Amino acid sequence: MTRIRTAVVGGGIMGGGIAIALARAGHEVTVIEPDEGAAASLKDRLRADGPPTAGETPTITPDLEAVSSARLVIEAAPEDLALKQRLWTRLGSLALVDAILASNTSSLDIDRLAECVPQPSRVLATHWFNPAYEVECVEVAPGTATSNDVLENVIDVLRQAGKRPVIVRNGAGFVANRIQFAAIREALLCIEEGISAESVDEIVSSSFAPRLAALGPLANADLGGLDTYLAIFEVLRAAHGERFSPPSILSALVAEGRLGVKSLAGVFDYTPASAREVATRRDDRLSRIIASAHEPAVDS
Ligand SMILES: NC(=O)c1ccc[n+]([C@@H]2O[C@H](COP(=O)([O-])OP(=O)(O)OC[C@H]3O[C@@H](n4cnc5c(N)ncnc54)[C@H](O)[C@@H]3O)[C@@H](O)[C@H]2O)c1
Repeated sequence: MTRIRTAVVGGGIMGGGIAIALARAGHEVTVIEPDEGAAASLKDRLRADGPPTAGETPTITPDLEAVSSARLVIEAAPEDLALKQRLWTRLGSLALVDAILASNTSSLDIDRLAECVPQPSRVLATHWFNPAYEVECVEVAPGTATSNDVLENVIDVLRQAGKRPVIVRNGAGFVANRIQFAAIREALLCIEEGISAESVDEIVSSSFAPRLAALGPLANADLGGLDTYLAIFEVLRAAHGERFSPPSILSALVAEGRLGVKSLAGVFDYTPASAREVATRRDDRLSRIIASAHEPAVDS
């Protein structure tokens, strides 16, 4: 693995986690954190969550000029377009002209940051998930100008750090947050209606959440039966309103007779063997996920 000099701009929840992930992968990491309190908590966190297995503990500085020797810069400053644009304008003048510049933005348009720097071909979004040193997926969204070399380079670095990069279209919330926030919105509405927060969390974490971890929502829907899902959407729409109106793709699949695994065609196509295999894979993974969720926590 090539050891890269990296800089993480913003050492909060995400920047700190990304710094740990990069250091564990053996990279040299400098975190730029201007707030003294945040820098002090990051130091404590590095002591608790580190030391990195492969590399050195990241260094922390308030000085943005520290980005000037980095080959890869990951910005994890607050989700505020004006603040990020001011920061990216400075990054554009301080960073090496061929350094790769990535933003950890959850929802902003990466082109609005790319336009602040010279050579926007080296700019892209890498959306990590909290805690960044544990969660495997990183959504990678190229901007309009991002070069293929930059995209491939970043994907290599992420894979070598044990991550599962998935390329997504640049657009608000990418993929994960659109799905995640739909679920969170509904969970909050449940407590607004008087269901206890404890019940909501217990129900989700012991029902469909482990199943979603075993297979994604679409393979799960194929296993459940798309005709059944369509019927449920209609009942939910009647009770809770248009936010539950079934997407037209679901009605079209059912109209074509693509009912899921039971008809060997749904969102995905199946053979009799692959239909058995997907159900077995779900069951095997699910039982391991449930068993590990019940393991006692390891005391440090
Ligand atoms: N919190 C999450 O679960 C999550 C998940 C994925 C992506 N994100 C994204 O990651 C980014 C950071 O989010 P966070 O949750 O770590 O926020 P945070 O508030 O925990 O951390 C942001 C840090 O940036 C620092 N900062 C402020 N101005 C700065 C500047 N000019 N230069 C350098 N650092 C500066 C702050 O002092 C703070 O420590 C956001 O874009 C957010 O949308 C957050």
